[in-house]
Amino acid sequence: MNLNVISNPQAAYAQIAHWRQAGQTVGLVPTMGALHAGHISLVEQARQACDRVVTTIFVNPTQFGPNEDFSKYPRTLEGDLELLRGAKADMVFTPANDDMYPPGSSTYVLPPKVSLPLEGEFRPGHFQGVATIVLKLFHLLPASVAYFGQKDYQQCQVIKQMVDELNVPMRIEICPTVRESDGLAMSSRNRYLSAPQRQSALCLWKALQIAQSLYAAGRHSIGEIEQQMRETLLSQGAQRVDYARIVDRETLLAPSEDTDAVVALIAVHVGTTRLIDNLLLEPLGAQYSVLHTP
Ligand code: PAJ
Repeated sequence: MNLNVISNPQAAYAQIAHWRQAGQTVGLVPTMGALHAGHISLVEQARQACDRVVTTIFVNPTQFGPNEDFSKYPRTLEGDLELLRGAKADMVFTPANDDMYPPGSSTYVLPPKVSLPLEGEFRPGHFQGVATIVLKLFHLLPASVAYFGQKDYQQCQVIKQMVDELNVPMRIEICPTVRESDGLAMSSRNRYLSAPQRQSALCLWKALQIAQSLYAAGRHSIGEIEQQMRETLLSQGAQRVDYARIVDRETLLAPSEDTDAVVALIAVHVGTTRLIDNLLLEPLGAQYSVLHTP
């Protein structure tokens, strides 16, 4: 089966409706292109679970702030198509801007509360743009299940809550973060980094690992661990720390007595590149039982 490249929204809808009517399951992997092994891992998980796999490539202008990298965001369509062929995707939807945002568009999704802290503070309007484009893609491409990466942890929570609260008939699957061998989370933005900046970018993974070991040791307050993360980030190469927090996995607010589990989330600037990463923190007992599961 060849990769079907479709930019016309009606044609894309018709293809998916045809598969669904024939009783096939369809997995959807939305992306902004500049694909790497992290994106391809989502395609592979969809490939294993679904009869058909559909990817989208669209650099969504409404999720970029006025001083962000929309115009210089990497666009590598030919290489992307090669990777998608290799991963045996059935279809890729590559819409034009005017198809997703008809001229004069003024309708947006107001994203759920979980969009407000962290990225919400540093990138106002970002999740409104994400929620809007993702809902549009879900309407145009009525798949059975959509795949997202834990790399963008807050984005996953925003999309899961939006789907629940707006009664969207789509199952959401969250897939693990794919890392380089030294721990750096794969990201389209890593290609902005010079060789020394690439080395400095390891500060995120170092800080997350320190957070995990302090948390598992159980002797430090959340505030102390956050301070350690910040010091590690600044001493190991970050120019600026937007946030380094440990929060409730569901609400993304400071842990309370109702909190079952926490996640550490980081956003920093390395040179002029903004990088994010996160790690689900486990208490020592939980790690021990994972290590010893036969
Ligand atoms: P983009 O940054 O291209 O990412 C597309 C999908 O790939 C997202 O679900 C993201 O979490 C996942 N991803 C990125 N790096 C990953 C990694 N190292 N390991 C695993 N998954 C990874 O996220 C977006 O695009 C956009 O906001 C989008 C949802 C497409 C809406 O425009």
